[in-house]
Amino acid sequence: MVQIHEQIFRDAHQSILATRMRTEDMLPICERIDKIGFFSFEVWGGATFDVPIRYLNEDPWVRLNKLKEAMPNTPLQMLERAMNIVAYWNFPDEIVRKFIGFAKKNGCDYFRIFDALNDLRNMKVPIEAVLETGGHAQGCLSYTISPVHTVEHYIEQFKELERMGCNTLCIKDMAGMISPTSAYDIIKGCKDAGIKTPINLHSHCTSGMTGMAYMWACDAGVDILDTAMSPISGGTGQPPTESIVAALQGTEYDTGYDLKELIEIRRYFIKVWDKYRHLHRINALKVDPEVTVHQIPGGMLSNLIFQLEEQGAGDKYFQILDETARVREEMGYPPLVTPTSQVVGVQAVMNVLHGRYKMIPNETKDYCRGMYGKPPAPIKPEIMEKVLGPNWKDEVITCRPADLLEPMWEKRKEELEAKEKELDKKLINKEEDIMTYAIYPQVGLKFLSGEAKPEFTSDELPLPITHPFTHSMIKAQFPELSKEDISNFGKPVAPTQVAPVVPTEYNIEVNGEPFEVKLEPVGGFITIEGKVGEGLQGAITPGSGQACKPPADTEGGVKSSMQGTIIKVNVNKGDDVDENSIIVIIEAMKMENEIKAPHCGKVEDIFIKDGDIVKPGDVIMIIK
Ligand code: CO
Repeated sequence: MVQIHEQIFRDAHQSILATRMRTEDMLPICERIDKIGFFSFEVWGGATFDVPIRYLNEDPWVRLNKLKEAMPNTPLQMLERAMNIVAYWNFPDEIVRKFIGFAKKNGCDYFRIFDALNDLRNMKVPIEAVLETGGHAQGCLSYTISPVHTVEHYIEQFKELERMGCNTLCIKDMAGMISPTSAYDIIKGCKDAGIKTPINLHSHCTSGMTGMAYMWACDAGVDILDTAMSPISGGTGQPPTESIVAALQGTEYDTGYDLKELIEIRRYFIKVWDKYRHLHRINALKVDPEVTVHQIPGGMLSNLIFQLEEQGAGDKYFQILDETARVREEMGYPPLVTPTSQVVGVQAVMNVLHGRYKMIPNETKDYCRGMYGKPPAPIKPEIMEKVLGPNWKDEVITCRPADLLEPMWEKRKEELEAKEKELDKKLINKEEDIMTYAIYPQVGLKFLSGEAKPEFTSDELPLPITHPFTHSMIKAQFPELSKEDISNFGKPVAPTQVAPVVPTEYNIEVNGEPFEVKLEPVGGFITIEGKVGEGLQGAITPGSGQACKPPADTEGGVKSSMQGTIIKVNVNKGDDVDENSIIVIIEAMKMENEIKAPHCGKVEDIFIKDGDIVKPGDVIMIIK
């Protein structure tokens, strides 16, 4: 018998509905789902913590609680990014342990724990914490293809996860590229090597061969498969639950689930899918066999294309694909998943645009120092020298990255209590609120103080054709339509209401989070659609404009070499600077980069400040 781990409330809507499904659209069907007998149901973790507080004005802890109440018989699971928990940076052990305790208390039974680099040191504390709370720990390895990621390598790492006490094991094929033979070889290899712990295969439909891979996984003895109810499945999402259940019926792998009941549940989710029509994107539902050649996950690829266009280098696409493979090899073959996908992808773009390792974002430096964990293979010494300088050996850490972190719970608690006094507003209604703040200080505070606004509520769905979110969907489908045409749909627009002509693409930062944005003029106001990290999209209102800049040929003018957001200006007017001293930190493509003084001299004028957006060639200051 094979069992199913259902994904419709986590990965599936994260992959194809921008993680936007609201709790009120989940609850009505839970009682029926609870009767199916799923092995487990992933409802939390990944982007489902960040998105609710950022865009839905929903408390993720409350959602978890309500779902558990509605499904008392189904084990609920969260995706836990090892020391990153539900964010993109490392937290101290104390926070990781507390978070897992709170999640368990609020209804999470199973924890799928993975690390981008498969560095088991990063997975140790969360696994221990889950086992201590009496939860189910699933040890998960990111799937990738490289000379070091052999079948034997996976078997050895799974053996170690079994020794660490994991209750189940999982292969996480986030790019949806695992072939039938790879799935078979790894799973069969584990079984033959005496691994007794049940094995789960997680994949996406991207390559088009996932159904075959699932069949071969069954033949190899897989115990659990990840699927999602059909209305929110396929493409960059999971294979459809009902189809897999039907395919295995009458075989030795039969799930035993009630297919008729699943079809009833499907009818409910068709209505949900239709309600969220403004988020439908046909490309997310298509097959992309190219992933089997370049191995770049769908999310990372669309990000790369966007970043290239933003840097005015859309024609360099194929060069970037080759360079990404080369950088990944030089950096020790990290699996391409958040956050390592970003480090490798952006370094590749920098290399093609500015020469190999001429521009090095801080994230690349941190990666080479070992701050993300140990790369699967050693980084090439010549690259270490280029990135960290001749004394690179002194900069590399050998300990587990989180060993360098101080506890922060008490500090965050005191900060939030001080904020309560300052704002004269109750922010802490439960201990979990302190955790929300500890994980996402800026966005969390905004949410806790009641300032977060939902993009839409379930009652407002489906959004009308006049809504700006619907415009984004129409534009994606009909690129030939002008913005004016689209905003005129369904309403007569008087000439005075026509939106002003403004640049349409920006890279900005919101609450410390990098944001790629597209502006869409609508009537008399402007809305912005953007993307952060993995599968997050949102709408925000724009900040102030940018300062005027002098012409490019200004004498002594220092130009930005890239499109990006100014994070820090290191010099003041009147300062004397040396050649090559770091004058500005610019955030481009979600990475921090340094701009150095091209010559020595006195800073005569500065045309930028923190938060400004600059284009390649913009004069940012004058040094004479
Ligand atoms: Co996934």
